Amino acid sequence: MHTEERTFVAVKPDGVRRGLVGEILKRFEAKGYKIIGLKMLQVSDELAAAHYIEHADKPFYPRLIQYLQSGPIVAIALKGYNVVAGVRHLMGSTDPNEAEVGTIRADFGQLKEYNIVHGSDSTASAERELALYFKPEELIEGNKCMSELVIESLDAQ
Ligand code: RTP
Ligand code: MG
Repeated sequence: MHTEERTFVAVKPDGVRRGLVGEILKRFEAKGYKIIGLKMLQVSDELAAAHYIEHADKPFYPRLIQYLQSGPIVAIALKGYNVVAGVRHLMGSTDPNEAEVGTIRADFGQLKEYNIVHGSDSTASAERELALYFKPEELIEGNKCMSELVIESLDAQ
């Protein structure tokens, strides 16, 4: 009855350096989303440009690319019900000072330019970004997580 989506999340270099990877993963897991891909990487020039192509003409673009490449990131692929919007909600607004208290950016960030996490903004962006960061065989979707099993069993009743 309910259909799952996939999304792409990254713990940005400031989040990795500050030791927040576990805290951020914990929030997604606690929500019931399933981790279907996970890796740490240094973003190349080509990957950074492809990721943020929509911002190429913005004044903040050079700093954004420098930030994304300033250290390793942790790339995360998630699957779940309404996961694209749900992750954006858990992350909070772009500017941590405008983000709702309790969101990742409000709880851990201070500046819009260094806002800890990235999350895809639509299902189309999610599929584009997942393909940039993961090979198809790196996404493992077969194992059912507990929240999926519960929702599927309720749907089946
Ligand atoms: P993201 O793509 O990283 O998940 O962030 P977002 O959707 O909330 O925000 P977006 O508008 O896509 O901006 C991408 C990233 O660029 C940096 N930024 N700096 N200096 C500025 O005015 C400014 N505006 C945006 C942030 O790191 C933002 O997350
Ligand atoms: Mg964005």
